[in-house]
Amino acid sequence: MIMLEVEASSIRLIQGKFSVLFFMVIFTFCSISYGDTLREEHHALPAPEELGKIIDDAEKVIRVYEPHLTKDNQLIPVEYVGYEANPIFSEILGQNWHNQKADIEFRALDGYIARIEVSKFLTFSAYLVFAKKDREPFRVTNVAQGGENVELGPYYLVWDNISNPALIHEGASGWPYQVTEIGLSSARMQSLLPGEMSPLFFEASRLAKKHCLTCHQINGYGGEKFPINLARIVKNYKETAFVKWVLHPQGVNPRAGMPPLLPSDSDTERRRVASLIYNYLLALPVTE
Ligand code: HEC
Repeated sequence: MIMLEVEASSIRLIQGKFSVLFFMVIFTFCSISYGDTLREEHHALPAPEELGKIIDDAEKVIRVYEPHLTKDNQLIPVEYVGYEANPIFSEILGQNWHNQKADIEFRALDGYIARIEVSKFLTFSAYLVFAKKDREPFRVTNVAQGGENVELGPYYLVWDNISNPALIHEGASGWPYQVTEIGLSSARMQSLLPGEMSPLFFEASRLAKKHCLTCHQINGYGGEKFPINLARIVKNYKETAFVKWVLHPQGVNPRAGMPPLLPSDSDTERRRVASLIYNYLLALPVTE
């Protein structure tokens, strides 16, 4: 409604049939370019028996080191029952799911949303599980978050971290539980370079993703290690202070846990990257 009003008044301002035509052309052009972006859809996961029929596969027992139970680096194996995740994506999200530059989105009962890059599912084996093999209650004690007995169902995404020890370091990130819906989402890419921002920031957005978002976030997307919103935080910084911090955090605070940016690159290159990231973050709208 608001958009229409704005448009109508701009049209009135310019006046004449020619300008109306002009706006129509621009408008069509915009809709075509937006049409390229992924449709965001969520699909409710059916009950386990039904899901087994849809993917035409038998349930499997999968043994993992349960990351929620890891304490003092001691790995505790648990056996779950479920299905391989990728065939489920093919049936529910479409055969083309793995060609998308997108995340698989997992929506949980309490509204929590985990978004995991498609590429991770092509590198490692994930399973959507719905029970424990020994038929003990489908719960886990979340050691890191207060130790309460957390319900895992209806579905819990687990990774074969026994065959792929590289996954062990990631801990419980990417293991959403109480999952009820799945979907494909390009929201993360969009939040790194939202529609209103110039495509000239593309390089900077990728640099920030690579060097900063493993620990920090931009408007809700990114890592969990120190999940501050860089789009918001940067607005408190002058460029010189920001660059100084990013290039040499321990110079500013000897106890800083943040690593310096690109430590083995030349000084010129490091400053160029820090500056690009600063100006990009400064231009980013804060939406969270
Ligand atoms: C390995 C994790 C990690 C990475 C990667 C990382 N940081 Fe940090 N960052 C931290 C931690 C931890 C802190 C908290 C202060 C400390 O202990 O160093 C922090 C603090 C900050 C702060 C200060 C926040 C405040 O309260 O003012 C800023 C700004 C910041 N980081 C920006 C960046 C930028 C920009 C990048 C990418 C170039 C980046 N960080 C990469 C871990 C990281």
